[in-house]
Amino acid sequence: MTAPHPSESTIDILFSPEEIALKVEEMATRITAHMSEEFMVVALLKGSFVFAADLVRALHHVGCRPQIDFMTLSSYGKNVESTNVVMVERDLSDTVRNKNILLVDDILESGQTLNYARTLLQERGAASMHIAVLLEKPGKRKVELNADFVGFTIPDKFVVGYGLDYANYFRELPYIGTVR
Ligand code: IMP
Ligand code: MG
Repeated sequence: MTAPHPSESTIDILFSPEEIALKVEEMATRITAHMSEEFMVVALLKGSFVFAADLVRALHHVGCRPQIDFMTLSSYGKNVESTNVVMVERDLSDTVRNKNILLVDDILESGQTLNYARTLLQERGAASMHIAVLLEKPGKRKVELNADFVGFTIPDKFVVGYGLDYANYFRELPYIGTVR
């Protein structure tokens, strides 16, 4: 199933690369202030790969030396609206037992993706759990879940770029934009 590449001219820029970089540095400062002990970053793929890569380097700048691991979760289907069924497509390679975890995702919408990840890692014996998301859409939550660290709160529009996709396109855009 291959969708044609949608035109970049349908995207309105919401946050420039410079605005994103400033925000990521600021989040790293907040995160170090709250996470005093050693911790492991668990980045949820695919969407958070760009954010996570920038965030861990920003964390390094402010003195953090986290371990890093990845997990690919998929909501069933490839549509604009995220759906209820979350599955592990590729699992972590490390154990989370007795570790302080910083769960990192691109965007918090219904909360189902992060809720699934949080429950899974708690069941596996994580010592503590914090959540960092670059973007948050308020008023869309289907489960009770709040992120400890939020970059931008955005209006209820579909966004792409900086790791976020539309049908697996646009992840490489250095900015975040809304699709018209
Ligand atoms: P949730 O499970 O509804 O909180 O949705 C989180 C996941 O849905 C994210 O990890 C994204 O992959 C995807 N998602 C939600 N909103 C958007 C959007 O506006 N653009 C691209 N992906 C989105
Ligand atoms: Mg996605």
